[in-house]
Amino acid sequence: MKISVIGAGYVGLTTAACLAQIGHDVFCGESDVPKLANLQNGVMPLFEPHLEDVIKSVRKGDRLRFGSTEEAIAWGDAIFICVGTPPLPNGDADLSAIEKVARAIAKQVSGYRLIIEKSTVPVQTGAQLRKHLSVHSTHGLEYDVASNPEFLREGTSVEDFLHPDRIVIGADSPRAADLLREIYEPIVQQKFTCPIHLSCPKREQPIFLATDTSSAELIKHASNSFLAMKISFINMVANLCEVVGADVTKVSQGMGLDPRIGPAFLNPGIGFGGFCFPKDVQAFIRIAEKSGCDFSLLKEVEKINQHRVEHIVEKLRNELWVMRGKKLAVWGLAFKPNTDDVRFAPSLALIKTLVDEGAIVSAYDPEAMEKAKAAFPDINYCSDPYEAAKGADVVLIVTEWDEFRQIDWDRLSTVVERPLIVDCRNMLNPSEAADHGFHYFSVGRPPVLPAQASSVAFAASSPVGGSRQKSF
Ligand code: UGA
Repeated sequence: MKISVIGAGYVGLTTAACLAQIGHDVFCGESDVPKLANLQNGVMPLFEPHLEDVIKSVRKGDRLRFGSTEEAIAWGDAIFICVGTPPLPNGDADLSAIEKVARAIAKQVSGYRLIIEKSTVPVQTGAQLRKHLSVHSTHGLEYDVASNPEFLREGTSVEDFLHPDRIVIGADSPRAADLLREIYEPIVQQKFTCPIHLSCPKREQPIFLATDTSSAELIKHASNSFLAMKISFINMVANLCEVVGADVTKVSQGMGLDPRIGPAFLNPGIGFGGFCFPKDVQAFIRIAEKSGCDFSLLKEVEKINQHRVEHIVEKLRNELWVMRGKKLAVWGLAFKPNTDDVRFAPSLALIKTLVDEGAIVSAYDPEAMEKAKAAFPDINYCSDPYEAAKGADVVLIVTEWDEFRQIDWDRLSTVVERPLIVDCRNMLNPSEAADHGFHYFSVGRPPVLPAQASSVAFAASSPVGGSRQKSF
C-alpha cells in the first residue's frame, strides 16, 4: 500500500521505516527543513538501536522516501499522523501540530484518504479531526479517521513495532478497519523479513484488537498512566523498605510472581521520565478533569514521581554534609538506556539541584551528552565513566546503561576521592561494591559499608536477615 507518515520523530521514523520493511511504499514528511535535509542525506536525527540500519536498507530498495509534509500528504492512500503533542503549561496536550496537518490534508486532497492518529492524543481527538477535515475541505476530500495508538518504547522501538504484543486500532467504519488490517497483516501473521532477527527471539502472533476510535484513544493514555502508577507504587514501597530495612528487590519479585500483578515496571528508582509518561499522566488527569472525573489517584502518581529526585538529593546531603564544592560524578543522562533522549529525564532535575547547591558535576553518558549540553552547557562532560569519577566524592548512577554493569572496580577505586556510590537504578550488586571497598547506596535496599560485605551476603541468604546499616 502507498502510505504517508507525517512527522519524523521517534514514532514517525520508526513507523515509516518498519512499514516500509514489511513491504509498503512509504513517504515520510517532515516540516523541519534542516532535519529533512539530514534525513535525505542519510543523517539520523536521533539514536535508536537498529533504526538507522532499517532505514538504510528500505531506502536502498526505494520503499522509503523523505520530503515535505505537502509531498507526503499527496503520496499515500493512508496517512499516519505522527507529529508531536507536547504538554501545555496547564498539562493539556498541545494539538496544534495535529490541527495543522488536518487542515493541510483538507485543503490539498481530493478523493479518499484513511487518516490515522498515531500521535498520543486525548480521547475524542478523532471526533475533532473529522469535524475539522469537513470544515476545511476544499477539493472534495473523502475520508475516514482512525486511531492506531503506538506502544513503542524508546531503545526498543523497532523490535516493538515489528513484534508487538498487540496492535490496537480504533475505527468507526468497516472500510477503515479493513484497510488497517491490511496494512498490519504482515505483522499480524509475522510474515516479513525481520531485519533484527539475530537479536530478536521468535515471537507469537500479536493480538489485533479493533475498537471504536474513542476506546482506542483511551487505551493509549490508560496504558501509560497505569504503567506510571506501577512505578510510583513501587517507589513508595522502596521508601518504606528503606525505613524498615527490607529489600525492595525481593518485595517486587514476590509481588511480580502473582500473574495478576506481573514483574514488569516494578523497578524502583529515581522516577519515570521521557517524553511519554510525565506528559501523558498530566494529560490524562486533564482529560478526566474536563470530563468531570476526579482522577486524583493519578495526581498522587505524579506527586510521588516529582519527589523522587529530591528523595535522592536529601539522602545525598545527609551523606556529603556540605554540598558546595563537592565533586559529583553523574553516570547516565538519558531518561533510560539505549536512547540519547533527555527530555524530562530525571538526570536534568538532579543536576539542576546539585549545581544550584554548589556541587561540581562531571557527567558521562554513552549517547546523550550532546543533547544534555543544551540544558547544561557548563558542567564537565567526560569521555568515559572513570574520567567523570576522577576526584569524585560520590558516583551517582542515574541511567542503567549496560556499560556501567561492566565496571572495573579496581580502576574506579583508584580515581575517586571517596569510595561512595549512589545507585539510583539498583543496577549493581551491593556485596560486590562492598567487596571492592565502596560504600554503596541504592533505592529501597539496605545500604552497604565495606566492612559489612560478608554480613550482607549472609543476610541475603538468611530468612531472618542480618545486621544492616539503616541510615542512608
Ligand atoms: C513508554 C511506554 O512503555 C510505551 O509503551 C509507550 O509507547 C511510550 O511510552 C509512548 O507513549 O510513546 P518509553 O517512554 O520509551 O515508553 O520508556 P519506558 O521503558 O516505558 O520507561 C519510561 C520511564 O519509566 C523511564 O524513565 C524508566 O526509567 C522508568 N521506569 C520504567 C522505571 O523507573 N521503573 C520501571 O520499572 C520501568
